[in-house]
Amino acid sequence: MPQNIYDNDAFFEGYMRIRERACNANDLIVDPAVNKHLPDLNGKTVLDLGCGYGKKCVDFANRGARSVLGIDISEKMLSLAKEKCSDKKITYLRLDMNAIDKIEQRFDFIYSGLAFHYVEDFDRLIGNIFNLLNPGGILLFVQEHPIITATIGGGHWNKDEKGERVSYTFSNYNQPGVRSNFWIVDNVIKYHRTMGEIVTTLAKKGFFIELMEEPAPEKEVVEKYPVFKEDFLKPDFLMIRARKIRV
Ligand SMILES: C[S@@+](CC[C@H](N)C(=O)[O-])C[C@H]1O[C@@H](n2cnc3c(N)ncnc32)[C@H](O)[C@@H]1O
Repeated sequence: MPQNIYDNDAFFEGYMRIRERACNANDLIVDPAVNKHLPDLNGKTVLDLGCGYGKKCVDFANRGARSVLGIDISEKMLSLAKEKCSDKKITYLRLDMNAIDKIEQRFDFIYSGLAFHYVEDFDRLIGNIFNLLNPGGILLFVQEHPIITATIGGGHWNKDEKGERVSYTFSNYNQPGVRSNFWIVDNVIKYHRTMGEIVTTLAKKGFFIELMEEPAPEKEVVEKYPVFKEDFLKPDFLMIRARKIRV
């Protein structure tokens, strides 16, 4: 069984506090990058893997999707999704991403935001996603950047004499596997994969990689929240858009 950290009370409260802040990377860095590269969703069937409290599911429904299935392993996340982000076109389902081969529907677009690094078997996940997509269908995902997932025990910032962060040290890059780090609470389990493994897995399953981006904040975001200038020193996120070309 994979860890279900979002159902831990302390973690859930801490995570929601981060998401409710006006200055959060999900809304200010990830979302604008994702929105730039969404396909036309009019009349499309959509699956959101690790949908959390459903913010993107509502967005997809509002963009004209015919139906949206949001799956997540966390009961707490799904109950918030049902309370705050419901729509007649959206269905929320409690399901582990490792078991999506049980889904019988097929989709035109599969999205995942910051959830793939919680899954151990990437090869199986991508194979299952490939099978769930209609021919020509698109997978768009954002995950923590491999530079962030790499270091056993977590990376660290290096500062200059004024205490300003000037560079970031990471290691263990070429040692893929499980990582247990402190984030909000102790012992949060994630999985590190190299960029090479991620891209090669997609290609071998029959995906054509349409774009790979390491989203950084827009100029206006940094002007308003200078803390985000650190994202020009190291990437926090990796975003890939891939199309099912083999059937
Ligand atoms: C960082 S949150 C992102 C939520 C949402 N995608 C968003 O961007 O707002 C990661 C989500 O992945 C879910 N998750 C983690 N492991 C999972 C698994 N094995 N199966 C399904 N969902 C999982 C968590 O419960 C959590 O809701």
